Amino acid sequence: MDNKLYIVMVGLPARGKSTTANKIKEDLRHDSVRVKIFNNGDLRRKMVNNNTSIAEFFNPKNREGFEIRERIAEINLESARNYLKTGGDVAILDATNASKQRRDKIRSILNDHPILFIECVNDDEEILNASVLRKIETPEFSHLSVEEAIRNFNKRISYYTPIYRPLKDEPNFIRINSLHKTVIREEVKNGVPYYDQIRDFLVTDSIHHLYLIRHGETFFNIENRIGGDSDLTEKGLSQARDLAEYFSNREIPLIFTSQKKRTIQTAEPISARQKKCTIIPLAEFNEIDSGICESMSYSEIREKYPPIYAARKKDKYHYSYPEGEGYASMKERIDHGINKVLYLSDSSSNIMIIGHRAVNRMILSHFLFRREEDVPYIYIPQDKFYYISVTQNRKFFQLKKYK
Ligand code: F6P
Repeated sequence: MDNKLYIVMVGLPARGKSTTANKIKEDLRHDSVRVKIFNNGDLRRKMVNNNTSIAEFFNPKNREGFEIRERIAEINLESARNYLKTGGDVAILDATNASKQRRDKIRSILNDHPILFIECVNDDEEILNASVLRKIETPEFSHLSVEEAIRNFNKRISYYTPIYRPLKDEPNFIRINSLHKTVIREEVKNGVPYYDQIRDFLVTDSIHHLYLIRHGETFFNIENRIGGDSDLTEKGLSQARDLAEYFSNREIPLIFTSQKKRTIQTAEPISARQKKCTIIPLAEFNEIDSGICESMSYSEIREKYPPIYAARKKDKYHYSYPEGEGYASMKERIDHGINKVLYLSDSSSNIMIIGHRAVNRMILSHFLFRREEDVPYIYIPQDKFYYISVTQNRKFFQLKKYK
């Protein structure tokens, strides 16, 4: 059997193609497969002197722009062919490859080994907007104001939309929802090398370096009060500074927090010690909503609402506070938050999440199986953090002190 493969990514801009391509590369490399990505955008930024952040470059009616883009695609196709000829195993062509015409050209040039097309689909408006914000942080857009950059990137997407044809007649393809990691359609004949591995990579989470941190001490913590939106105490601020010191020699490009002040205040000093770091507050990571018990202490709850206290004690995982949430009912939003984190980050880079006690228990148990009845009791201290690394090949976690 031919053990060389071309992977051709397909999809509109900001649909998670590059994240998916990088994930496949990292995971296959773990199995000692020689993989290289040929990215048309990267080559364009190297080759074209004129700035190509302006959407007009992508207007299909702009003849010059079209020809340059075709030329770039051809160069990458030739390089990919060469790579497989000279020892490479898998060449990944990372570009929109949106039109049928472009894909026919690819099939005619890459005719010496099987091709697997991977189409990435995602229509979640919120995540697309977040993804566009990440894109415009790159040097390509640095000379534009944020508004101009967003407008140009969205216009670029709108130029691709009319020429975009989903995969249909291509011999081997898989269409995935890249946010939810589900397979929408697959038409794959036998004989596509590495297919079982790749399919598995596409639907599973892999996170090489996740730092899962709980916010520093708050005024509510001192009084044993739950929920609320309390500030960090002096001790909490000093914990945040210690975390900042600890992580100052590791690159943390993104910090995901909740929308609560205590997680953002913990993230700020860490971010300030980094060269480049963005804090992304996600509603999905807000602490468990304790409904009518918000801001009360545990002893107040026991006195005022004995049945609530007792029912929660009996089945903490499934119990939901009146007008609030429980661990079980938080699961969906936490999983959604994790999907967002994975969509917006490069799986090989360091990822940091600063959350809360209940939230972090749920995040931890997403990656490392714990029995439901044990999840609400997982130890989530404020003077240590969890380091988690989960790939196809290993599951690793460690509770570490940062000072
Ligand atoms: O006390 C801090 C806190 O994060 C509260 O806001 C939250 O309700 C609680 O911990 C969750 O822990 P448990 O489920 O053990 O009550």
